[in-house]
Amino acid sequence: MDTLRRLLQEANHTIIFTGAGMSTESGLPDFRSKDRGLWEKFNPSELANVHALLHNTEEFTNFYRYRLSEINKYQPHKGHLILAEWEKTGRIKGIITQNVDAFHHDAGSSNVMELHGSFRTFHCHNCHKEYERNAYLDGQTTCDCGGTIRPGIVLFGENLPQDTFRKAEQEASKADLFIVLGSSLSVSPANMFPLVAKENGAKLVIINRESTDYDMYADVVIQDKGIKSVLVELDDYFRFTE
Ligand code: APR
Repeated sequence: MDTLRRLLQEANHTIIFTGAGMSTESGLPDFRSKDRGLWEKFNPSELANVHALLHNTEEFTNFYRYRLSEINKYQPHKGHLILAEWEKTGRIKGIITQNVDAFHHDAGSSNVMELHGSFRTFHCHNCHKEYERNAYLDGQTTCDCGGTIRPGIVLFGENLPQDTFRKAEQEASKADLFIVLGSSLSVSPANMFPLVAKENGAKLVIINRESTDYDMYADVVIQDKGIKSVLVELDDYFRFTE
């Protein structure tokens, strides 16, 4: 932790990169943790793609209404709030996230690049008419045009939002410190950003309960502590020493 503290204090452009492990301490499951990841219970190839939306529509809609109802049960934890505070004080410059729960946004972070979209918006897959989140929860799942209403998240096989992707690429290239919080780094192209940062001279930190294929490139790897406790410990240190 001492090295991480020093890196954070010395850095001028720290970028945070989060995955589902950032939200498990809020109560949400991640995707690939042994025995409790979402993909242990549901098969993403049957649910999380456009083919499922078009040809397995009822199961697709039930799955995403289930995920939205789960997200609605929980909220950002202290770690999300600390990151939002650090952005306000300039300690970090932005967050690149794979998460669709919008918890960084809800915690008050502003420079948040949601690579995989979020459950904040819903639209018809056919005509792109926008719909309210509550209408989707209340059961409205078919558009007036007959198309399927879907969340504004990126499904497997779809392109990432290009503007967000380009912005994340710029931020990762500018970073002199790049901190991964709670991602297996197993999904592309999101998993390219730690190397984009590293190749542009950044120090790379990976805080994740399990090892990742990118640990060999990291300057610091922390596996023995949960993300929330790492962020709280760092924040307490900064509060009492700066
Ligand atoms: N502290 C530290 N690490 C944690 C914690 C925690 N409290 N909770 C979980 N983790 C770690 C897990 O060990 C796991 O390695 O977070 C990692 C989460 O990895 P994944 O479940 O694979 O989630 P993620 O990397 O975000 O998945 C990327 O895959 O299915 C798609 O679109 C989906 O955005 C998602 C993408």
